[in-house]
Amino acid sequence: MSAKRLYIKTFGCQMNVHDSERISGLLRNEGYRLTEKPEEADMIIVNTCNIREKSEQKGYSDLGRFAMLKRDKPDLILGMAGCVAQKDGEKVLKRYKGLDLVFGSSNIENVPQMIRTITLKAQPVVMVEEPPGPPKTTPADRKDRVRGWVSIMEGCDRHCAFCVVPTTRGRERSRPSAEIVQEVTHLAEAGYKEITLLGQTVNSYGKNLDEGLDFADLLRMLDAVDGIERIRFMSPHPCDMTLKLIEMMAELPKVCEYLHLPLQSGSDAVLARMGRGYTLSEYRQMTTRLGQWIPGLAFSTDIIIGFPGETEDDFQKTLDAVAEFEYDNVYYFNYSRRPNTPADRFEDQVPEEVKEARFERLSTLEKSLARQKNQVLIGTVQEVLVEGRSKRDRAKFTGRTRSNKLVHFESADDEIGQLLNIRIASAGSTCLEGIRIPSRSQ
Ligand code: 5AD
Repeated sequence: MSAKRLYIKTFGCQMNVHDSERISGLLRNEGYRLTEKPEEADMIIVNTCNIREKSEQKGYSDLGRFAMLKRDKPDLILGMAGCVAQKDGEKVLKRYKGLDLVFGSSNIENVPQMIRTITLKAQPVVMVEEPPGPPKTTPADRKDRVRGWVSIMEGCDRHCAFCVVPTTRGRERSRPSAEIVQEVTHLAEAGYKEITLLGQTVNSYGKNLDEGLDFADLLRMLDAVDGIERIRFMSPHPCDMTLKLIEMMAELPKVCEYLHLPLQSGSDAVLARMGRGYTLSEYRQMTTRLGQWIPGLAFSTDIIIGFPGETEDDFQKTLDAVAEFEYDNVYYFNYSRRPNTPADRFEDQVPEEVKEARFERLSTLEKSLARQKNQVLIGTVQEVLVEGRSKRDRAKFTGRTRSNKLVHFESADDEIGQLLNIRIASAGSTCLEGIRIPSRSQ
């Protein structure tokens, strides 16, 4: 019998991207193989995100589009996964009659069993309750052969006023360290060179485990795994950046010189209303220490524009902070009202046109900063991990520096997965071009 075809559409963060890899890993065991074409699929899963209203709408509109395919193909299994599924549960079934399956991210391990129920009983299945205990280890059908995502914890115990994550991903639950070490060891054996540890507040790892270890200890354990050359993680919360963690980052050779540290706003008044738990000056102290202890550390951040009550003066403080911290990359979003979050009930919502105008100003600043930061690297030699052929120019290859900068260069297929020395020849705001130089051993 030929393999059944699975199409997955993924919205949102790396956690969702990796969840999709886990869904397809489990379904591979059930005889499904991934396809890029929804029209030839036997099963379609939309893995949704509801961090902002737009992402939620996109998920729903795709689901509507895929539901139409069922008219010609009644046996097509149509499912919704991820944070919108978690939030809306049974309600989604009422909205889309053709839907067979609705499940949250903590129910992924049950996907094979849900599919069997659908096939046997010919009735839809909804599973959005968080099971007790730590997240389960499941196989993942990974797209990349060099860099692997490893989810180390789920959920978030912080309650930032803007954020839906505590309601969609539940309370913090860390995976046992032995399972994480085992997964990373298997990745190394399969030829993976780089891992990115994932979690909503990745550096609060371990708080709810009885193992008596924290994120810094986990980094030390993973640094010892043979074959892995680079370790990254995202996203840490500034309040969990302990001195011990900063020391560990400085000490461990495989932990890369790159940190995504969400600031959200440069105004103390806004940070307090957001419930972030730090002031600008505390954040500054931390980044100063990080910069001193880890030479060449590159920073990126998240900024929310137009949080309720944000004045012109508050926003100017954000622009000043972005310029002061000289981020290598800034990810910025207009504040989006999310039902059942504290900030949705705040009265002084910022008009959309004000958010748009501020967005443009931050965009201009970010682009010029990124270009400047990249241009400083011209003439330097960077260690680059070869990832594969460039999507833009198939004759070229791409890879990243330890500081997470994307580089285009000439290489060969058999060098994928190797670390090369590349001299940076030119730089734009989003990527670098470089020329390979012989390493000392060559
Ligand atoms: N509106 C806009 N941006 C948001 N983020 C989280 N919630 C919202 C919201 N309601 C942003 C934050 C977070 C990133 C993943 O998404 O900046 O760090």
